[in-house]
Amino acid sequence: SESSQFCDAGIGYGESCGVSSSSSTKLLIKGGTVVNAHDMEVADVYVEDGIIVAVRPNIKVGDDVTVLDATGKFVMPGGIDPHTHLAFEFMGSETIDDFFSGQAAALAGGTTMHIDFVIPVNGSLLSGLEAYEKKSKKSCMDYGFHMAITKWDEVVSKEMEIMVNEKGINSFKFFMAYKGSLMINDELLLQGFQKCKSLGALAMVHAENGDGAYEGQRRMIELGITGPEGHALSRPPVLEGEATARAIKLAGFVNTPLYVVHVMSIDAMEEISEARKSGQKVIGEPVVSGLVLNDSWLWDPDFITAAKYVMSPPIRAAGHGEALQAALSMGALQLVGTDHCPFNSTQKALGIDDFQKIPNGVNGIEERMHLVWDTMVESGQISVTDYVRVTSTECARIFNIYPRKGAIRAGSDADIIILNPNSSFEISAKSHHSRSDTNVFEGWRGKGKVEVTISGGRVVWLNDELKVFPGSGKYVEMRPFSYLFNGIGKADEKYLSSLKAPVKRFRATT
Ligand code: URP
Ligand code: ZN
Ligand code: ZN
Ligand code: ZN
Repeated sequence: SESSQFCDAGIGYGESCGVSSSSSTKLLIKGGTVVNAHDMEVADVYVEDGIIVAVRPNIKVGDDVTVLDATGKFVMPGGIDPHTHLAFEFMGSETIDDFFSGQAAALAGGTTMHIDFVIPVNGSLLSGLEAYEKKSKKSCMDYGFHMAITKWDEVVSKEMEIMVNEKGINSFKFFMAYKGSLMINDELLLQGFQKCKSLGALAMVHAENGDGAYEGQRRMIELGITGPEGHALSRPPVLEGEATARAIKLAGFVNTPLYVVHVMSIDAMEEISEARKSGQKVIGEPVVSGLVLNDSWLWDPDFITAAKYVMSPPIRAAGHGEALQAALSMGALQLVGTDHCPFNSTQKALGIDDFQKIPNGVNGIEERMHLVWDTMVESGQISVTDYVRVTSTECARIFNIYPRKGAIRAGSDADIIILNPNSSFEISAKSHHSRSDTNVFEGWRGKGKVEVTISGGRVVWLNDELKVFPGSGKYVEMRPFSYLFNGIGKADEKYLSSLKAPVKRFRATT
């Protein structure tokens, strides 16, 4: 295998990668097991002009059609990563993957769409979006945006309406941590939740008690603990559990659906699970690093080795990841993201004397599909159909782009992967396609390999070769009022009618 499979020339380089540049617009995937979130069958998949035209056994085609044999393999919807940060300016640095290199890495790992977080500029959503529109021009796969809310006033409130009604954004993220930069308070959280509800947009939270984490950092520095392990010690699971519970209760008070990003601990997972049992509409997103890693590396004496695992909330002690896996398998958590936010060794070294200055973030966009397969399916914890649900379909439903995305069926976008369950994969910074010089999953070997990735009807990953072009990715607009909003109005009516009697009494006495 070649040492650098990713020809990083930045322009159309299909030839040099050894894949024919004649890209047929007609494609037949023959004889594979086609998997959707609720069923699977042996069938052919016929694609024309980027759209799936037919899914049934024994489709006959002419010889102008490119045929891919998928016998004995799984044909599945491409992965959708709900949580990435490409070209993200954060903690005095910028993530090493931009919209081209990050997406190329994604495609090599079987992910065909991602949703990235737009960060406002000085609180302005419109300026933030403008900046991300520029960053994403070089995209080589489809993408969507969430929008972060970092301050509150009438302008922001109006801009939220513009985002939803004109810009195709249907989710807003609130950071309960990162005191002094992105963090917001409960008052803003409540106003934001209220506005989300009125727009049919999904409220998302980074749930950690930011004041607690700040206090924990003071404590570590006082104790003389300045290494990467200080990061984990300063923000223990209790802070994640507390913020998760607070966000859930406030979303319940407003009566709007809530999405908790990067669920890293048992503490947070249990809050989500309990709320769901009581009927509240709460979604929990574990990320692949949290599912399969533990905190042991943070104590590695080599700074760079330890620092590459620094993210927030922290990767937890052994036991948390296994519990998150179990929660994913029984439905307490619903979909898997990555929080792909890679910084290379030089960037991580900003915190060599002080863990508080280590840029927070790990990789995962290229590894998620393989690691979820290996850890969840190969181990017998979930079925192949569940795999499709947690890596693709549920994300498409939550962000209201199903069945255009997240399904192998006539009319859907031709974002398709072919996975060979009998082949194996190995992860290394030497062979990955991210620009990062490290990989938190270094050395992982597992079963089940994405052998083919089709993005918008084009074969972009085949024979371990990428063929991607900047500018070929499309922005996917997402409409408000996903399925999570079903029933919200009914619950409101019930609440209001429960108030009627006391409201009348109050009026009578004034
Ligand atoms: O450490 C992390 N998670 N970095 C990315 C920003 C965020 O909080 O999602
Ligand atoms: Zn190549
Ligand atoms: Zn976060
Ligand atoms: Zn994130």
